[in-house]
Amino acid sequence: ALPLILDMDFGIDDSMAALYLARSGRTEIVAVGSVHGNTSSAQAARNARQVLAELGLGAVPIARGGAEPLNQPVSYASEVHGDDGIGGMASASEPPGALVDYSAAEQIVRLARDRPGELTLLATGPLTNVALALALEPALGSLLRSVVIMGGAIGVPGNMEAHAEANIRHDPEAADQVFAALENITLVPLDFTMQCRITQREIERISSAPHRAGVDLVRGMLPRYLEFNRRDLGVVGFPLHDPAAAVLAIDGGFAECLEAPVVVELTGTATRGMTCVDRRPVASAVSRPTVRIATRPLRSVVDEFVRIAFEEDR
Ligand code: BDR
Ligand code: CA
Repeated sequence: ALPLILDMDFGIDDSMAALYLARSGRTEIVAVGSVHGNTSSAQAARNARQVLAELGLGAVPIARGGAEPLNQPVSYASEVHGDDGIGGMASASEPPGALVDYSAAEQIVRLARDRPGELTLLATGPLTNVALALALEPALGSLLRSVVIMGGAIGVPGNMEAHAEANIRHDPEAADQVFAALENITLVPLDFTMQCRITQREIERISSAPHRAGVDLVRGMLPRYLEFNRRDLGVVGFPLHDPAAAVLAIDGGFAECLEAPVVVELTGTATRGMTCVDRRPVASAVSRPTVRIATRPLRSVVDEFVRIAFEEDR
């Protein structure tokens, strides 16, 4: 099984990604860190406890992570994920399990040092914790097997702003530090995730899938998400953002990729948080590691996700 650290702003699609990973039977979820973004870092940690307990993963250590971006005021995507981050499904009572007494960034560093070269970090929220971990351990890149990140918009419009995707826009400095330092990143941007659409057909498959603990919890989050997507994006259904990154973390063969360095725009007035990719074939002026950027699905990520997360009995 693939050993994974999850770093998430535990919203609706983060929860879907966790459901997929847990039900795949192909991963060992070693630890989880929360981060601000869809909701507060504290609420995201609470959601992590609730979702993991439902998935039978109550023993996985969960650490609270960065409560705010490195260099801007915090803001939450409540209009997308609801005030609780999970579409109104947060339990009124305290979820089981406690948080560990160190931060998500410290947790990443500890685990990477304990198991050098073994762990994959899947980051589906703002990159605050990853940047803080890098500050604690500059050699983090060589201690992790790979880092899979959902974020960015390369050749398509942003979703939070015209040129900026939400995870990057919620902490542009952190994202830029991560792209500057880590050698083994796979980036799953909107360019890829917008091609992975849940449509009416999959909604029907999900609705008729058998009742199970984690499945029912995540299914309960979907009306809120469908409503947002219908109102704001004018579509029936929704794109798979974080679940697509989870699918690629397990099997990179689902995506065609390009390799190029990424710089995050930090000072633009209309472009802060934009992911600038240097696609020139030679003599890139950017002296940064190349990032593997997923551009196009080679197999159906949507079918893989629906089948594993909701349908197959395991
Ligand atoms: C990303 O932003 C968050 O709202 C989602 O959970 C996803 O990680 C999509 O831009
Ligand atoms: Ca997310």
